[in-house]
Amino acid sequence: MSDIIILAIESSCDDTGAAVVANGNILANVVASQSIHEKWGGVVPELASRAHMQHVVPVVHEALQIAGIDKKDLSAIALTAGPGLIGSLLVGATFAKSFALALDIPLISVNHLQAHVMALLIDEPKPSFPFLCLLVSGGHTQLIVVKAPLDFEIIGQTTDDAAGEAFDKTAKILGITYPGGPLLDKLAQKGNHTIHKFPKPQIAELDFSFSGFKTSVLYYIEKQKKLNPNFVAENINDLCAAIQYTIVETLTDKVLKAIEQTGITQVAIAGGVAANSGLRQKLQLLSQQKGFDLYIPAFQYCTDNAAMIAITAQYQYMKNDFADQSLAPYPRVSL
Ligand code: KG4
Ligand code: ZN
Repeated sequence: MSDIIILAIESSCDDTGAAVVANGNILANVVASQSIHEKWGGVVPELASRAHMQHVVPVVHEALQIAGIDKKDLSAIALTAGPGLIGSLLVGATFAKSFALALDIPLISVNHLQAHVMALLIDEPKPSFPFLCLLVSGGHTQLIVVKAPLDFEIIGQTTDDAAGEAFDKTAKILGITYPGGPLLDKLAQKGNHTIHKFPKPQIAELDFSFSGFKTSVLYYIEKQKKLNPNFVAENINDLCAAIQYTIVETLTDKVLKAIEQTGITQVAIAGGVAANSGLRQKLQLLSQQKGFDLYIPAFQYCTDNAAMIAITAQYQYMKNDFADQSLAPYPRVSL
């Protein structure tokens, strides 16, 4: 059988990524992050689209160069088709379609959420099937039974905000600049989580809700600021620790419940919030105490990256799951 070599493009939000996979091995994974949004306190969609436009060609060049692959050797071009910001998706998709057309090779349309989960199949050790995956990204929080590559069953999800939004929105309340989640994580590591207490959201079954939690943080901060205008500055590390602790406990409680309900003991996490130090540590502790096997992707494969698009595309290629030139990105789509 000849080699399967795929170039993948990821442009769903504010990072432009390109990766090359050859027969299941990632040869290159390049990401250009956009610092432009820091000034605005969040991702500005139109600025993101323009930055993708500037980054996509250099990033692809670099990925091919690192991989040592000539474009003529490519078997297919993969792209993120959604979910994401439509302007950002259009840049990646238009580039991918043009490149595939010029090289006369097939296109592969990849679901960004599926790809976050498929990132677990990049490095050894890999979970065996079926495994339970907590997918925690900026827009999604889901508990999934992964039955086989590309075969998912959602058994729980958020009814409002995602865990990533809970981090980002509470970080904003504290005046922590974008990107809120990673910065809150850093400060939390220097704090004590027992000084301030926030109620854990109580939601039935395996579902989640974080919007009430965000409101309780807001009310608490407003009340304390009336008593002491310097309250946030004086308590920042402990506040971050308490927020992180509450979000992590909420997530891990549901993971334990899902293990109990399904009987599955292969457990994994994926998505940007899987980079959170508190979540990683708590799950590592629980896996030792409760005896389940834990799989966490390397940091670079948790947050948005093209390697996860490439590995997903590799499996789609083997199933002859190709897209045609009429493909258009879709901003809202589930697993
Ligand atoms: O998966 P991702 O990179 O993009 C989406 O597909 O949404 O996830 C981004 C989310 C953001 O909400 C970001 O704040 C959060 O992941 N995040 C973190 C950490 N790193 C990224 N949240 C908490 N702690 C972190 N270390
Ligand atoms: Zn993502």
